[in-house]
Amino acid sequence: MAIRPYIVGNWKMNGTRAMLSEARAIDRAAQRYMKVEVAVAPPYTLIHAVHREAEQIGVGAQDCHPGNEGAHTGDICASMIADAGAKFVILGHSERRQDHGESNKLINAKIESALEAGLRVILCCGETLETRDAGDAENFVLRQLKAALPAFTDPAERLTIAYEPIWAIGTGRTATVEDIAAMHGAIRQLLDETYGEEVSSAVRILYGGSVKPENAREILSAPEVGGALVGGASLSAESFLGIVVAAS
Ligand code: G3H
Repeated sequence: MAIRPYIVGNWKMNGTRAMLSEARAIDRAAQRYMKVEVAVAPPYTLIHAVHREAEQIGVGAQDCHPGNEGAHTGDICASMIADAGAKFVILGHSERRQDHGESNKLINAKIESALEAGLRVILCCGETLETRDAGDAENFVLRQLKAALPAFTDPAERLTIAYEPIWAIGTGRTATVEDIAAMHGAIRQLLDETYGEEVSSAVRILYGGSVKPENAREILSAPEVGGALVGGASLSAESFLGIVVAAS
């Protein structure tokens, strides 16, 4: 991996204030693994509290509204999560696409709004098992990205892509290293074509889908894998740090 590996925990809809002890443990331990960039995305309700605990790790959100303010009951915009201490936001996660019908167009609008608010963005993409079995996984993922990528990213480090095959999320199944490498290679080529090679080289491509301490080293060693987006295994400091160690 040419640039610092990025290990991001996505807590999804998990965590009350009791989780702050896990965040504290992750933060203290991460100080021993400075070669790895470590971050967590707690639910909105914990962003500020985790931010206050965190000296070393980055804190982010799992979504934001595309607008700046206004009459949108229950929604939270990019400047609000930045104000709470978030430095990045995960956008386009397959669970948002499935549960809330998010389109690539909406995701693109959210990305532009987040970048405008000074946040970094992790843009998720990934195919269903049916799409993979039909042999259309690569085309599908590239179509998702072409429709959602921001027009411009400056500096380029503010954009990260996360490839997460939907059938590997929370199932215990992971894609083969060969499949991961092939998809990450195709994504890199798209980034090269879209932004030019210099900008593209600063954009990390993470893998997500049942990453655990036991399989992290092998996955992270695949070409073009710049880190991991971790769901279930990020909910305990012990297992999450096992992945951080594998990346170091
Ligand atoms: O955002 C994280 C991914 O959806 C992966 O979740 O590690 O529980 O499979 P998982």
